[in-house]
Amino acid sequence: TGLVTLDPGYKNSGSCTSEITFLDGELGILRYRGYGIEDLAENANFLEVSYLLIFGEKPTAEVLEKFENDIRKYTLVNEEMKSILDGFPKTAHPMGILAAMTSALTSFNPKSVDVENEKDMYCAVCKTMGKFLVIATWTFRKNMGYPLNYYDNTKGYVENFMRLMFEIPTEPYKVNKTFIEALDKLFILHADHEQNCSTSTVRMVGSSHAGLFASISAGVSALWGPLHGGANQAVLEMLEEIHNNGGDTEKYLAKAKDKEDPFRLMGFGHRVYKNFDPRAKIIKKAANEVLATLGVEDPILDIARKLEAAALEDEYFKSRNLYPNVDFYSGIIYRALGIPTDMFTVMFAIGRLPGWIAQWKEMRENKEPIGRPRQIYTGATLREF
Ligand code: CMC
Repeated sequence: TGLVTLDPGYKNSGSCTSEITFLDGELGILRYRGYGIEDLAENANFLEVSYLLIFGEKPTAEVLEKFENDIRKYTLVNEEMKSILDGFPKTAHPMGILAAMTSALTSFNPKSVDVENEKDMYCAVCKTMGKFLVIATWTFRKNMGYPLNYYDNTKGYVENFMRLMFEIPTEPYKVNKTFIEALDKLFILHADHEQNCSTSTVRMVGSSHAGLFASISAGVSALWGPLHGGANQAVLEMLEEIHNNGGDTEKYLAKAKDKEDPFRLMGFGHRVYKNFDPRAKIIKKAANEVLATLGVEDPILDIARKLEAAALEDEYFKSRNLYPNVDFYSGIIYRALGIPTDMFTVMFAIGRLPGWIAQWKEMRENKEPIGRPRQIYTGATLREF
C-alpha cells in the first residue's frame, strides 16, 4: 500500500493550492486575493468582499450593483421550507436548524451546479448568498415565535439581516448606522480563512461532486463545534460565568492551565497564528468603539480585558504562543447589537459563506481529485469469528 505519512489534524499537510487567501501565522498577516484584511475591514463592504473572494477581482460599482440585485432575485425561500422549519422544537439550536435547512435547499434546487458554465455558477452563487441569509435569520425567528420576515429589495444586504431578524409587525425596524457598520466589518473579518476545519469540509464534501448547498450544509455543521466557530458562543458563556461568580479571572486562568481540567480558555489559541490574530486586533478596537458609540457599559468587556491582560503575562500562555483569536471579542459586539448568544455561530456562518463558496468553486474549477486520506491500521490482526 506504499508508505503513509501520519499527520493527525493535518498540522503540516497542504491539501490544495489556492489563490484565494494568504495567511502568515508567524507575522500575523491575512489577505484576501492580495488585499490586506485591515484595508478591507476599513474600506470595503461585505458584498464587495464576497464578490472579490468568489470571483477573484474587486467589482466595479456597476458589477457590484448587479451582484446585489441578482442576490435579491433569489431571496425568496420556497414555501415548503417553512413546514420543515415548523417541525423543529423551539429549543433547537439555530446552527442545527441552519445545517438542516441548508441541506433541505438541495431538494428544491436539485440541479447540480455546472462550474464550467459561468452563468450557471454565477446563478448558484447569488442563490446561495440570498437564501442562506434569509434562512439564517429564520432560525432565530423560529425560536422567538415571531412571524417570518421577507427580504426588502429597497435595502442593502447587511441592513436586511437586521430587519429580517428584528422587525416585528407592530414595530418597523429603525436602522442604526453603527450596527450596520459594525456587522459589515465583522462579516468581512470572518469571510475566509483558507483551509480551516469548515472550509476543508466544504472542499472535501464537494470533491465527491456533491452539490453546493450540500457542501455548505456540511460546512455549517463543522463550524458549529466549540473548537471552531462555536467558540464565539462558548467565549460569551465563559465570560458570563466568570462575571456571575464574582469576576475571579485568576481562578479560570488556573483552570485553563490545569492539565487535569478539560476547561480551556475559550477564544484563545490558534492552529496557525502564533504571534497574534490580526482579526482579533481589529475586533477588539471595534468592540471598544461600538460600545462607546452606543453608550453601553458592559461588565463583560472588563472581564475580557482583565482575562486577556492576565493571560498575556502568564508563562503558560506565553510559552505556548496562545493569544486572543477572532472569537474572543466578537461576541461582545454581537451582544451589544442585541444578537442572542446562541445565534453567534450563525453570524460567523453568514460571514464565512462567501469563503466557502469561493473555495468550493476553486476546488471544482481546478478539477481537484476526490479527497481521500489514508490511515495507519492499528486494530486486531486476522482472527476467526
Ligand atoms: N486554553 C488553554 N490551553 C490551551 C488553549 C486554550 N484555549 N489552546 C491551546 N492550549 C494548549 C494545549 O493544551 C496544548 O498544551 P500542551 O502543549 O501542554 O499539551 C498547547 O496549548 C497547544 O494546543 P493544541 O490543542 O495542540 O493546539 P491546536 O492547534 O491543536 O488547537 C485550538 C488550536 C484553536 C483548537 C485551541 O487553541 C483551542 O482549543 N482554543 C480554544 C477554542 C477556540 O477559541 N477556538 C477558536 C479558534 S479561532 C476561530 C475558528 O477557528 O473558528
